Amino acid sequence: MTSLHQFLRITIIFITAKITLLPPPVCIKACPSNVSIDPYTFKTPPILNHSMAEPSTTAPPLQDRVAIVTGASRGIGRAIALHLASLGAKLLINYASNSAEADLVAAQINTGSTVRAITFRADISYPEQVKSLFDAAESAFSSTVHILVNSAGVLDSKYPTLADTTVEDFDLTFSVNARGAFLCCREAANRIKRGGGGRIICLTTSLVASLKPRYMAYTASKAAVEAMVKILAKELKGTGITANAVAPGPVATEMFYAGKTEEAVNKAVEECPLGRLGETKDVAPVVGFLASDSGEWVNGQIIRVNGGYV
Ligand SMILES: NC(=O)c1ccc[n+]([C@@H]2O[C@H](COP(=O)([O-])OP(=O)(O)OC[C@H]3O[C@@H](n4cnc5c(N)ncnc54)[C@H](OP(=O)(O)O)[C@@H]3O)[C@@H](O)[C@H]2O)c1
Repeated sequence: MTSLHQFLRITIIFITAKITLLPPPVCIKACPSNVSIDPYTFKTPPILNHSMAEPSTTAPPLQDRVAIVTGASRGIGRAIALHLASLGAKLLINYASNSAEADLVAAQINTGSTVRAITFRADISYPEQVKSLFDAAESAFSSTVHILVNSAGVLDSKYPTLADTTVEDFDLTFSVNARGAFLCCREAANRIKRGGGGRIICLTTSLVASLKPRYMAYTASKAAVEAMVKILAKELKGTGITANAVAPGPVATEMFYAGKTEEAVNKAVEECPLGRLGETKDVAPVVGFLASDSGEWVNGQIIRVNGGYV
């Protein structure tokens, strides 16, 4: 064999070995034309063009769910209604007398072409008015109601001791806070959607834990609601509906400031480990979580939201 033959033989062997060492053919068809694949590492260069990313298909957590929020013209109820709307829910904004304030809340939600919020006047201490609240929500949104948040409430701003509480003031407090909560919960228990996503959330108070003097009727009326909610959660077994209470500490609303001296306000700030009053935005997200699918496992509970004062 000549040296030329020897050279050609070695070259052919080397080329054959190199070809067999190559990785299998890469499927170029499945790859975008402007993305190259390194045949040795199978790695693509980092994708810098964001327009190529999969479009986000995540729907808002409460999309297409209908929520009734009582006492939503002002204060905590108003913040809850706006928050649930931001999570995609359709809202019935309930109020007792303040139609202008309620309209403003609805207008803040109804910024697009479709109506996502309606207002409805109803005193929650009357059964037929609570019934019409649910009728209105069902007919406005052509849907079963998914979520009830009962935030309507009253507090006697004279802050009487038990010895000084009149029967009329006691009855008024109980008629809205306890009887109203009962009527709303009863209607919800019968009419809220079964099989997932059904939520009942009542606003109570951390006073049920701190038991301050001069809040007797108010605290007792909310303690009744806390017992109600825990029993309701058990009675709704099999429906997929959860029932909970959210119990704030002092929150800077008209209800909190009514009849209080500057000294009383400062005392509430001092008692809080975080050194401030609660704000409505401290409470609304907790309600939003309970209302969402992520909150399903919280059931029959009292969630105290108070910056740690009790
Ligand atoms: N603020 C606090 O420090 C605090 C602390 C713990 C718990 N909470 C509880 O949180 C809830 C909201 O309190 P808030 O401070 O937001 O009170 P708020 O500012 O006084 O607002 C009360 C809301 O309830 C409505 N309302 C009153 N009576 C009603 C009735 N019979 N039927 C239907 N709606 C009625 C009012 O409607 P109109 O505007 O039409 O009058 C208003 O929308 C209450 O249940 C309260 O007990 C408050």
